[in-house]
Amino acid sequence: MAQSLQIAMYTAEAQRALYELSKVLLYTPQGAPSDETAAERIENLRSVIRYHEWRYYALNDPVISDFEYDQLYKQLEALERQHPELITPDSPTQRVSSDLIEEINQVAHLTPMLSLDNSYDARDLLDFDTSVKKLAALPPDSVVEYAVEPKFDGGTIALVYENDRLTRAATRGNGLVGDEITANIRTVRSVPLQAPFSQYGIAKAELRGEAIIRKDVFEKINAARQAAGESLFANPRNAATGGLRMKDPKEAASRGLEAFVYQLAYAADAQGQSVLEHIPTHTDALNMLEQLGFKAPSTQPGPTDLPERRLCRGIEEVIAFCEAWQEQRDAYPYEIDGMVVKVNALDLQERCGSTAHHPRWAVAFKFKARQATTRLRDVEFQVGKTGAVTPVAKLEPVQLAGVTIQNVSLHNEDFIRSKDIRIGDYVLVERAGDVIPYIVKALDHLRDGSERPIEYPRNCPVCHSPLVKPEDEAIWRCENANCEAQILQRMIFHASKHAMDIEGLGESTITRFYQLGWLRSITDIYRLDYDKIAQLEGFGEKSAANLRKAIEKAKQNPIHRLLHSLSIHHLGQKSSKLLAAQVEHVLELANWDLERYQQIKDIGPVLAQNIYNFFHNPHNLEMLRTMETLGVNLRQTPEDRRPASAAEGPLVGKTILFTGTLSTLTREQAEARAAAAGATIASGVSKNLNILVVGEKAGSKLRKAQELGTVEIWTEAEFLERI
Ligand code: IVH
Repeated sequence: MAQSLQIAMYTAEAQRALYELSKVLLYTPQGAPSDETAAERIENLRSVIRYHEWRYYALNDPVISDFEYDQLYKQLEALERQHPELITPDSPTQRVSSDLIEEINQVAHLTPMLSLDNSYDARDLLDFDTSVKKLAALPPDSVVEYAVEPKFDGGTIALVYENDRLTRAATRGNGLVGDEITANIRTVRSVPLQAPFSQYGIAKAELRGEAIIRKDVFEKINAARQAAGESLFANPRNAATGGLRMKDPKEAASRGLEAFVYQLAYAADAQGQSVLEHIPTHTDALNMLEQLGFKAPSTQPGPTDLPERRLCRGIEEVIAFCEAWQEQRDAYPYEIDGMVVKVNALDLQERCGSTAHHPRWAVAFKFKARQATTRLRDVEFQVGKTGAVTPVAKLEPVQLAGVTIQNVSLHNEDFIRSKDIRIGDYVLVERAGDVIPYIVKALDHLRDGSERPIEYPRNCPVCHSPLVKPEDEAIWRCENANCEAQILQRMIFHASKHAMDIEGLGESTITRFYQLGWLRSITDIYRLDYDKIAQLEGFGEKSAANLRKAIEKAKQNPIHRLLHSLSIHHLGQKSSKLLAAQVEHVLELANWDLERYQQIKDIGPVLAQNIYNFFHNPHNLEMLRTMETLGVNLRQTPEDRRPASAAEGPLVGKTILFTGTLSTLTREQAEARAAAAGATIASGVSKNLNILVVGEKAGSKLRKAQELGTVEIWTEAEFLERI
């Protein structure tokens, strides 16, 4: 058998011949060469189509275009239509049956389908290795070879081939008996309808594998279902297992199922004698299945830069490979929930044996769970810095992908209503990759009647003023700018990293100072009493001095940080920079009219209105003036003059102003072009101005610039040429 493993269905030679035959079939009409019969051409077409399906579906590496493949397929269909008597069940055209499946039959597996024992960390894998050596009576210091491959998260399948033909496919069922799903599996193109097992002396074989749906295909299926108003699948596994059991094979075919094979569970010759003992290792078995045209985990690096399967010498290599895969799992096109570690030598597998539940020669290394269920104890409504009221679920603490989860946002009222989440419910929580955790659904079948609906408040939970919900928003807001919760959140944001970046003044310190009555508003941050702070438990002289240093430093921040720190709704880091580039002093903004904000590129009407409102509120102006007297910088710094969007361009570092009527550009277009070229748009003529672009009827600004003598004066044409 070791010898015969060299047999390959598609040797390089065979592949060349099939490729050339494809071209002949594509580009010579039927009947040529002259003595070719319809039966011969049909057989040739089937051979080349099978070959191209293998390249495409099993190897993911086609050698002809989709168009050429379609032409070959259509030729075959046309010929079979003309000669229906020549149609055979294993023709590539016969994958999708038009007969509906009346009733799903139960079938017994040739050998039981066991489960896998689980392991979760390096320690568990070391224990597994120790146990393998004990069971196989190997010395403790021996090095065992393990085959390691992904644990595919789809629907388990068992495929039976008899006399080189696929005769039966089944689900796992209870491990002994499964559901017969042959008609649906036949639609999966990575499952060959025929495979030359006889070349290996095998008359009957049973393979195990997994039917799965690629993540991107799954997204498309769900998008289409959403568009059609149909219910969505929770994950690719549900879409796959559902697809296997469709009554209409056409529907199964439309799921985009693929199948990996990962075990040769049974192989017997024509006399019914097992030939498995002639196949020395699991790796040999998978190589053989690959040669036979199946899609097995590949030994070549793929999208994750890791091979799907690797033969590891010793458990340390296994641990490293599993951990590398755990890191890379998001880059893999299929969902996997771990790796499977298998003793490679089949005779050692035999020596290890199995329990009724799982083999002792294999173990699943489970990745950290991304989903968990827990109980929703309560819902708290938190008021954010701009007054948005967010419901937050208080959960019984649960471990998820290595992190304890206790608080999860429920986003808004629509989210709660659409998922019908209630207090006291068991909920399914998910944390995928770096994504923040969220509640997938409530487990409504576990309800005992004590659950309470979540009452959405109509008044601010802190200041009790009525909440308001703008028509086009999903969020209720507290509109009282003096609401204590908002003030506290605004202080926290003001000091945070992206805003004034005051080290040592995080959420807990601010809350503490707030509770002590030391912080009532943002301005209080700049009049803290450091002597008192030094007396505080957990502080001391050193911490107080450090805090003072951090606050003194923050006072010198460029004004774009200050603008961002003011919690003006929608005013982010980038728009703060755009705004900072426009003014020499923050309080100039109090003199701007609404349109002026709108003229700034990337500042839309809503944000313009928010900024306008802020700078036309006397309390806010008072706050800024107080801050200035306390030493906070309100003047434009060189950093503020650096444009936010264009870090490079012919006008980087230059301040520019337009005056008079331009002939080819509107004022707005000209300013946008200048900003894109890196310039800062000035608000008036001053000694900071570098360039004045003059149009027709330029008046006082031109005169002033000429008087200063330091300003370059350009015509519109010159400006256009420079940019
Ligand atoms: S080997 C008896 N290899 O995991 C051992 N199983 O919890 C035979 N699975 O239902 C299974 N990927 O369907 C094996 N590469 C892989 C697998 C794999 C997924 C599934 C299998 C089984 C479950 C065990």
